[in-house]
Amino acid sequence: MTKLAKLHLRLGGIYALFGMALGIHMAAKADYTLAPVHAHVNLLGWVSVMIYGLVYTVFKDRPVTMLMKLHAVLAHVGLWIITVGLFIFLQGSGSDVPAIIGSLLTILSMAVFVVILFGLTAEPKEA
Ligand code: HEM
Repeated sequence: MTKLAKLHLRLGGIYALFGMALGIHMAAKADYTLAPVHAHVNLLGWVSVMIYGLVYTVFKDRPVTMLMKLHAVLAHVGLWIITVGLFIFLQGSGSDVPAIIGSLLTILSMAVFVVILFGLTAEPKEA
């Protein structure tokens, strides 16, 4: 397994714990204000990040490229900024700008990942 796959799989697990703990916290307090934070951490953090790790595990014989490293930075930094940005926004008086910046980084990371997927699944050229 590449270091990059390991990074995604480990961080995906940590995001799951955080997202689920927030779910339990909301349920215990009967306050669902932070439900969008919970949903984004679980879906972008746990589900998407684990998929990145599993895809790189399936293609573990391929070299790790600069594009894969760029994707990892955009995906994880984007997720953190969305998480904090949504938290600020949902508190009421906060700005929505950080959540928007996080969303743009996140969609950019997905665009980079689509390019990576096309490269990984391309038919090898005939010699
Ligand atoms: C320990 C595990 C979990 C607990 C205790 C939990 C708890 C909750 C609670 C209390 C809500 C708010 C419900 C409401 O607004 O009436 C919620 C919403 C939601 N949860 Fe979870 N959840 C868990 C795991 C997950 C996972 C693994 C995912 C996705 C992979 C997920 C996705 C969502 C989504 C999409 C919503 C709707 C958010 C919204 O309406 O803004 N949850 N969850």
